[in-house]
Order: sequence, then structure tokens, then C-alpha cells
Amino acid sequence: MNSNQPIAKYRLDYAKPDFTITDIDLDFDLSPEITTVTARSRVIKQNVSATNLVLDGEALKLLAININDIPWQDYTLTVTGLEVHSVPDEFILTIVNEIKPIDNSALEGLYVSGDALCTQCEAEGFRHITYYLDRPDVLARFSTRITANKKQYPYLLSNGNRIAQGQLENDRHWVQWQDPFPKPCYLFALVAGDFDVLQDNFITRSNRQVTLEIYVDKGNLDRSEWAMTCLKNSMRWDENRFNLEYDLDIFMIVAVDFFNMGAMENKGLNIFNSKYVLAKPETATDDDYLAIEAVIGHEYFHNWTGNRVTCQDWFQLSLKEGLTVFRDQEFSADLGSRAVKRIDDVKILRSVQFAEDASPMAHPIRPDQVIEMNNFYTVTVYEKGAEVIRMIHTLLGEEKFQAGMKLYFQRYDGCAATCDDFVKAMQDASGINLSHFKLWYSQSGTPELTINDDYDADKQQYRLTIKQFTPATQEQAEKQPLHIPLDIELYHRNGEIIPLQFQGDFIDHVLNIHNGEEIFIFDNVREKPIIALLRNFSAPVKLHYDYQDDELIFLMQHTTNAFNRYDAAQMLLAKYIAINVSNHQHSNSMIIPESVIDAFRSVLLSSSLDPALMAQILTLPSENEIANQFKVVDPDAIHVVREWLLTLFADEMFDELFAVYQHNKAASYRIDHIDIAKRALKNACLTILAFASEQDIVDKLVNKQYQQADNMTDCLAALNAAVKAQLPCKDILLNDFDHRWHQDGLVIDKWFILQATSPQKDALANVKALLTHRSFSLNNPNRIRSLIGAFVNNNPALFHAIDGIGYNFLVEILVELNQKNPQVASRLIDPLIRLKRYDKTRCELMRQALKRLLKIDNLSRDLYEKITKALEV
Ligand code: TRP
Ligand code: ZN
Repeated sequence: MNSNQPIAKYRLDYAKPDFTITDIDLDFDLSPEITTVTARSRVIKQNVSATNLVLDGEALKLLAININDIPWQDYTLTVTGLEVHSVPDEFILTIVNEIKPIDNSALEGLYVSGDALCTQCEAEGFRHITYYLDRPDVLARFSTRITANKKQYPYLLSNGNRIAQGQLENDRHWVQWQDPFPKPCYLFALVAGDFDVLQDNFITRSNRQVTLEIYVDKGNLDRSEWAMTCLKNSMRWDENRFNLEYDLDIFMIVAVDFFNMGAMENKGLNIFNSKYVLAKPETATDDDYLAIEAVIGHEYFHNWTGNRVTCQDWFQLSLKEGLTVFRDQEFSADLGSRAVKRIDDVKILRSVQFAEDASPMAHPIRPDQVIEMNNFYTVTVYEKGAEVIRMIHTLLGEEKFQAGMKLYFQRYDGCAATCDDFVKAMQDASGINLSHFKLWYSQSGTPELTINDDYDADKQQYRLTIKQFTPATQEQAEKQPLHIPLDIELYHRNGEIIPLQFQGDFIDHVLNIHNGEEIFIFDNVREKPIIALLRNFSAPVKLHYDYQDDELIFLMQHTTNAFNRYDAAQMLLAKYIAINVSNHQHSNSMIIPESVIDAFRSVLLSSSLDPALMAQILTLPSENEIANQFKVVDPDAIHVVREWLLTLFADEMFDELFAVYQHNKAASYRIDHIDIAKRALKNACLTILAFASEQDIVDKLVNKQYQQADNMTDCLAALNAAVKAQLPCKDILLNDFDHRWHQDGLVIDKWFILQATSPQKDALANVKALLTHRSFSLNNPNRIRSLIGAFVNNNPALFHAIDGIGYNFLVEILVELNQKNPQVASRLIDPLIRLKRYDKTRCELMRQALKRLLKIDNLSRDLYEKITKALEV
């Protein structure tokens, strides 16, 4: 980057558009080499003093411009688009341009995926299709006519309803689509291809019949049924829980193999990464099934939260994403295990979002400043955004929250809204003041709560002192106290719950923290209680409270909240991991009290715990979760301590683990929550057992599970155990898996992930060798994420190898991907920009790597934004 450096846009610079477009007729003459786009738009001036219509457009070849069907000469082409000069107040603008889908490796706009053509327009991809007002606050009614070769592209799809079709000469045909709902262009979609189609229908609560269609690559029909089940469940759930009904006569999902993200909520025509559609027991794990349920739900729920009410500008992204993630989380929780879902979501927040807060890319859920919008589809906007909605839900309760949703739709249906609008609707409908709470939208960083307590036996009083502090983030030095809902419970040592009361009044279990320091007093407490804090993870914060081991062990066994049982176990482990990381660093021997092991043993022996919860408690925190405990991360020590703990657990609890493993074997595979839970527990046991010192016994056990598995969950769990524990059988099993599955991209991705996250010292050399594997391609984002993404993100000990070869490898990859696919490249760089979290040697190596990247010719805006921020201080 030299002469024209990318510049930032600011949220506060928002201005209404000078013009709007109310209707657009699009005409596509499709072919992969050259597609001709004709766009006829009705343009209306909004700002009387405007004379020039400024349209966005990138990588387009302009063929013609007409105004009111007369050729127009008064225009200029700019770097970012097209300026049409001296235009009338209202007119029909016709633009004809060409695009080249086959050359579109960035997968943004119209591109080729396998044998199909498809689009991805969010956030700013429509400007790669035609010149347009590419901003979410311009809502137009779209009609789309598609013409293409009938043999190559028998299915021609777009948003809304199919209103006409016909045959043409030379094997060509056309289809005309019309979407009655005005929408921003980021929700436009087009697909052309040959597919197998799974058809079904859904009767809405007001008795309308909706046609449901899932389009998959030929031969994949047997993997599309689960997605259809999930879609129907989503439609029913949104009616029952949110009172929201589907609004078109048809809903289509298309699965494509080349996709930058998970899926996209285009109106009536969702386009999915095939990873989140295709599943059958032989190829998909239980986790895959659950992820499909979540993503199908997520995109479907966007129809109301995103499409019917959209965003005023991209700074408001969390308006639709935070809310829709909250909705999909609740959907999964209502259909499956609420506690397990909560634990999974909190794990992501703690391992990935907390890391983002501590990185140069820290930002509030509603960012103030953006260079490349694609960089802000983040865990902060999505997952922390969902936590903010969840806190509103906690403060209001379900009933008032639903009243808030209703008011939100009454006010903004068919409009582009802001986060402020949403909070205002919640406040107005509930009568609950959210003015302090709103700070969560503008303040970044992870708040830390420090809690002290004391007990006065004479007064029978228990006193809590709660301090909050949010450390500065790179882009925001000053932090204010937030409104934090803190859900607590007090226990007697016999397990009895102590009612919360003060001066004769009962107190709600959710405490409202507003200030830097707050004191809460509880009366009638007859002995020093044990406190359960942050129940259900009631706020996205870090907690500091000096728990004694016996108190955590008590909570593991007695607290009523399943999340807190898990969390107590995590805190216990975190404490001894930290102690032993330090022991390792000082060459001291590692230690852990017998009582801690016994606490986990009693989890294994429990007959009342939900197996799914047992599995969560028995799964050690990942190296990334552990890393977030430390200001300066020592990836080697963390790796060593974690493996030491696994072996210790395996040896100390061998018999119990083995018994629970045997007990939870199922005769046959069924995808339901009870069986999923049993498999999770069985495989959690296997994962630990694999580290036992008696290697030949567990080698046989793992090998046997792999050989006998009739489903991918058990097959992959065995393979994973073999690789992570480096069992003798691992090479034979890896070869067998490759041989069996190399033709199946989604399955071989699992194998790439295992290769990339192997602890074996030469894993990087192996990853490099696999770049030429018959199933690998740098053109497919799923392959890249599985092999390279898994290595840089989930093999921290080897990515951060002290000789810098991990960093050098990432630099080489990014040099290649920078132009090919900027979005995917930009996601891969994340672990490299967190240089401040590492020791001097690593930090310096990372800085040098970033400096080399900054010199790349034609550095993308995506990478530029992250690299410059990382090098800023
Ligand atoms: N709106 C999509 C979702 O939440 C996100 C998305 C899909 C996306 N594809 C994208 C965002 C490409 C940016 C670029 O599910
Ligand atoms: Zn979304």
C-alpha cells in the first residue's frame, strides 16, 4: 500500500442518502466467462440540493447508461464507482455492464462454485454486480430475469416468487423472479446450476402453505433431510416463541461448496456453505448435526431480524446479528439441552471473544470506525452482541422482552433501524430504564468483576463488595462502569439454598451492578454461606473471587444451575493449571491435590447428572481457553501442563473412565439428544483414557472403536484420540481415513484439522506437505480453514514455535491469499496480530512477520486494516 491508502469510515458520519431507489429490474445474461447485467432502477432524489448520483461499483465493465431510456453522456467513472451528473429529480436509470464470474476468486458478488453460479452480496458485494447505491438503508423492490444455457443451468433461482419462465433458441431458457418485499441490495441473491432438490412444505399458523426446497449437488439428496427437519423446526419455533410467521410462498436453501462464511440470509433464497446443510450419520458428527440446526435456524430467523427490519448502516450490524444469534441460541436451547448449549456458547466467548478484546482489533459490538466492513463480522459483533441481548432478556424477563420485540416490529417493519432504536423499543415496552445499560453498545473490552465478602456471625449478615473495572483496549482508553446483571445464589454447607433478603424484603437473585463499587448486604444468614456467582454466565465478564477448593467442589456437586457446576469445575482446573504452568516454568515438579481428582471422580460416579453435562465437565479447557487466563501466554508450558493433567486423570481414574465408557456405548446410532449426550460422555472418557500410561490397552480400545464405528461421531472421536495422544495406531488409522474419504471435501476437512492440530513435533512440515494433497485446494475456503486455519488457531504450541517457522509459514500463505481471497486471508491473520500477548522473542518475530506483510503489492484493505492496527503501538 502506498499512494492510495485505505481510509476509515466513522459511525458518526452517517448521512441519509441523497437519492433512493424504489424499484429495480435486473436482467442477467449468464455465463461463467462473461455475464451481462442490465439494471433498470427507479431513482428518486431525497436531498434537493444534490445534483450528482454517486453509485458504488467495483471490477465492472460499463457498457451503457440511459436516463429515461435516452443515452446519458454526463458521467465519470471513479476508483470506487460511477458519478452520474446533473440528473433529474426522478428518473429511470438503465445501466448495462459486464462481469466475469470465472475470475472472481474472492467469492464476493457473482462467482463460480463448482458447476454452479451463485452470489454473495453482504456486506458490499452487490457493487461487484452492477453500479448501485450499495448501502443497507436503500430499500427497493427487486425483480430479476435470468437467462442461461438450459443444459448447464437447468435451475435459475432468485429472491421472491417465480412469476414467469420460457424457452429460447440455442438451448437457452429464462426465468423471471419477483420479490414483493423491498430490501437492501445485500439481500439480493441469484443461483444457477444443476441440482438435486429436496421438496417439502410447511403450513403456517395462519394456514398458508409454504413450499420448501433444498438444493444440493447431484448425488447428495441422502444428506439433505436433516436440514429440512431443522428448517421446519425453525419455522415452528419462531411462530411459537416469537410469534413470527414466514411471509413468502416459497423458501429455498442452496448448498454450495465455495463460500467465505457459514451461510447467508438472502430473502427467500438462503445460500449455505454445504458444511451447514449436508449430513448423514456416516459423514457428519453429532456436532455437525447441531451446527446445522443452529445455522439453518440463524438464517431463517434473519427473515424477521435482519430482512423485514434491516440495518441503517453497517455500524449497526449487531442489530441483526447479535439479536439473531440470541434467537438461534434460544432455538437450540429449547430443542436440546439448554445447559450444554449455554456452556458451548460461553466457551466460544471466553476463548475467542475475550482474545479479540485483548487484541488490536478490539471494538464495541457497535463499532465506531471501520476500514473494511468484512473485518467486522466478528465474535464481538455476533457472540458478544448476543450476550448483550441476553442481558436485556435477563433484565426484562421473557414476557416484557417479547413485548419489546413486538413494539420493535410495529415501529420498524419494512425499515432500516439502529441499535438505539432497538433498545428504545425494549425500554418503552417494558418500562425498564436501559439508559445506563446502553453503554454496552459503545464500550469495548472485557469487564472484570472483583468480589470480596465477609460474614458477621453476630448480626447473621453476609456482605458482598463488588468492584468492576474494564481494562483499556487499544482503540479506547477510557472506560466507564457498566450496568451488569449479576445472577447469584447462596448456600448453606448442607446444600440448602438461602433466600436472599435485606431488612425484611426479599431480593431478586439478579443483582444490578451500576457503579465501580457496590455493596450488598443479606440478612438472616445463619452461617458463612457458599456463593454461586454469575449463574448462567449472566454477563460477559471475567470474575475474580477467591474460592477455596472445598467451595468449588461443593458447587460442582450442589449448585442448582448446571452451567455453574461446569464453571466451578473449570475454576478448579484453572487454578491448578496456573500453578503448574508456573511450576513448569521454574522446573518444579507438578502437583495437584488428591481432593481435586476425587471431585472429578465423583462426577464420573454420579448417577443423577445429565451425561451431556458430565461430558462438558470432563472435557479439559482448550489451550486457547487456558491462554486467556494469562497476561503473557506461554504456549509451550500450557501444552505440557494440559497433557500432564490428561495423563494424570487417565491414570488416576482409569477404572471409572473405562466403566463409564463401556456403560454409554449404544447399540445403534440415532440422532436424538439422549443419544448425543451418551456419545459425548463416552467419547470424553475415551479422549482422556487415550493419555493413560498403559498405552497398549488404550491403543487397542481406540483402534477398536475406530474399526467398529458405524457413524462419523465415533469414528472421528477415536481418530482424534489416537492423534492427540499419539497412539501407535494413529498412522494406520489416518491412512485408512484418507483412503476412505479423500473424495469427500467435507469429510476430509476433519482429517485436515486433525493433521493440523497434531501435537507431533513436525506437524508444520506435515501441514506444508499437505498443501499438495489430492484433496487440498487454496481456492476452497473450507479446505483453507481446515488445514491452515486449524494450525494457526488451534495448534498454538507449534504455531508459536520459538524459531518463528509458524509465523513464516503464515506469511507465505497470506502473500498468496491476499489477492485471491482477501476475506479468508484476513481471518487467518488473527493469531498473528495478538503479538502483545507473547514474550519478547515471539513478539518481535511476529512484528517482523507483520512488517513483511505490510510490504505486499496490492495489499487488500482487509489485511491492511489489521496489520496497521497491530503495528500501531
Ligand atoms: N449475514 C450472514 C450471517 O450472519 C453473514 C455472512 C455470510 C457474511 N456471508 C458473508 C458476511 C460474507 C460477510 C461476508 O449468517
Ligand atoms: Zn447472521
